[in-house]
Amino acid sequence: CGITGYIGNKLAYPIVINGLRRLEYRGYDSAGIVLNENKNFKLFKTKGKVSDLEEICKGLKSDATVGVGHTRWATHGVPNDINSHPHLSNNEKIVLVHNGIIENYDTLKIMLTSKGYTFKSDTDTEVLVNLIQFMQDTQKIDLSTAVRLALNEVIGAYAIAVMEVDHPEEIVVARLSSPLAIGIGENEYFIASDASPFIEFTKEALYLEDGEMANISLKGVDVFKIKDNSKVNPIIQELKLSLEEIEKGGYEHFMLKEIHEQPKSIMDTMRGRLLVEEGIIQMAGIWDYQEKFLNAERIIIISCGTSWHAGLVGEYLIEDLARIPVEVEYASEFRYRNPIITDKDIVIAISQSGETADSLAALKLAKEKGAFIYGICNVVDSSIARLTDAGSYTHAGPEIGVASTKAFTAQLAVLSMIAIKLAKHKGTISKEKFNSLITELDSIPDKIEKLIKSTEEQIKKISLQYENVHNFLYLGRGYNYPIALEGALKLKEISYIHAEGYPAAEMKHGPIALIDENMPVVVIAPRTEHYEKIVSNIQEINSRKGKVIAIVTEGDIQVKNMVAEAIEIPDVSECFSPILASIPLQLLAYYIAILRGVNVDQPRNLAKSVTVE
Ligand code: G6P
Repeated sequence: CGITGYIGNKLAYPIVINGLRRLEYRGYDSAGIVLNENKNFKLFKTKGKVSDLEEICKGLKSDATVGVGHTRWATHGVPNDINSHPHLSNNEKIVLVHNGIIENYDTLKIMLTSKGYTFKSDTDTEVLVNLIQFMQDTQKIDLSTAVRLALNEVIGAYAIAVMEVDHPEEIVVARLSSPLAIGIGENEYFIASDASPFIEFTKEALYLEDGEMANISLKGVDVFKIKDNSKVNPIIQELKLSLEEIEKGGYEHFMLKEIHEQPKSIMDTMRGRLLVEEGIIQMAGIWDYQEKFLNAERIIIISCGTSWHAGLVGEYLIEDLARIPVEVEYASEFRYRNPIITDKDIVIAISQSGETADSLAALKLAKEKGAFIYGICNVVDSSIARLTDAGSYTHAGPEIGVASTKAFTAQLAVLSMIAIKLAKHKGTISKEKFNSLITELDSIPDKIEKLIKSTEEQIKKISLQYENVHNFLYLGRGYNYPIALEGALKLKEISYIHAEGYPAAEMKHGPIALIDENMPVVVIAPRTEHYEKIVSNIQEINSRKGKVIAIVTEGDIQVKNMVAEAIEIPDVSECFSPILASIPLQLLAYYIAILRGVNVDQPRNLAKSVTVE
């Protein structure tokens, strides 16, 4: 979910609505806004998107200069008008928006019900707002104290913004495991799950830490600890984000813009790190802890979704080049299976947002068990970035389309640099090999540029034939097995076509039963070590009349003659082929989804940043 708010001298409505639009990537099941207009709440909320909210607010004339808004990704309670945020307390004096989960809401609800409180929605949030009212009902205290006492009874994760009808001069916010930024303007303050809603108003922001809350009024921001009310001196940061970066720049969708940005985003990832002329890879995070990395007995990579696929490529890269054993795990499994971790282990978390609840919790567990923890995140100062002992930002720029594209290839670029650097220092590759690898990695952005130019129209045409297909199979071997998984995930996420990724050789142990003339099979078959094997796999599909779309190395006639469609990627070493092979698969998913009329930037049921477990 995303929350945003404003208090100042400007009209609150347009600022909050605009903020919600920017945060919609965090969830778009329902949206709501509340304004405090001369000590009256004006509350609007609805199932659907921010545009649906605007529709019901049409014609609204409000001179309110304080308000908060919410865009939801449902956890407790189906997306409907009643379950949408903001939620009012029983006495309708307190209003709250919430991102996260109140785990003990059931117990609290029973307690409150026994005291006569009633509930309209199925949400955990309505329990919290009434718990705050309960604190005020039983003790004569101000809003901020009531919020603090209520939060001390809560188990769970939250970022909240709370307002009281009789006190339009103040908004109270708090955070535990869900991000919350406060933008500091001149006599005006902004609240948001990330800085994007207020970037055009101010470049100064402070980020609440876990367990902190703040009272925001026109007089300023007071930050203190939820636990004991002790004062905190927050650090105000200068934001580097720009407005252009978070706008579509002429593209129809953020996803298409982000696909096209990849030559630049990968260049940004490597800038100042990959120094070909000097013959070095400069990565402070690795360099400062070189001994740890070189003596590591094992590297465990934890992540979710697309970032997990990047982790799998990382396993191939690091084991192949640097010869350090690597395990890759879903963060959600790792955290609950009592894993064996020692202080000789390095745990790397890969996360675009740096906020994914499962990854964050898994990392905390690894830290407790004594592992050295390293982060590969895209969002600067995100929770994971701050928790880790060291790390490398991907620097791909803000990624807004829900389906991850440029953040993924940037993760692959960072993992490539880490693997090559470690390999050099471990002596597992020769100096010549090191030099040829870094020269080649440096050429990847140009290759991507060329690849997009030469294949986009072809892919658009190919997608016309697959618009109405119900199932897809994606196959790859070695380094490109994770790319088969990622290609299938992309298609699933944005076109709603069922797709499965498989290691090509495993096809004969099951998926082959599905193959017939109606089954398109995407085979990633660049000319690498496993080329002959994958050619045999294609033959096996052909004998069962499956339709193959192959990703091949440019100039490959052999496979071209065997398949329905061949999409050419530039010739590259096997270890970099995942970066290139990903691009046509992103485009294929995009163009098929467009034909099927899906809003690719906001596919149903998904959210960009999943801050609940
Ligand atoms: C969500 C997103 C995915 C993403 C995953 C992990 O499910 O929709 O695109 O891969 O979370 O997110 P992270 O920010 O940790 O990389």
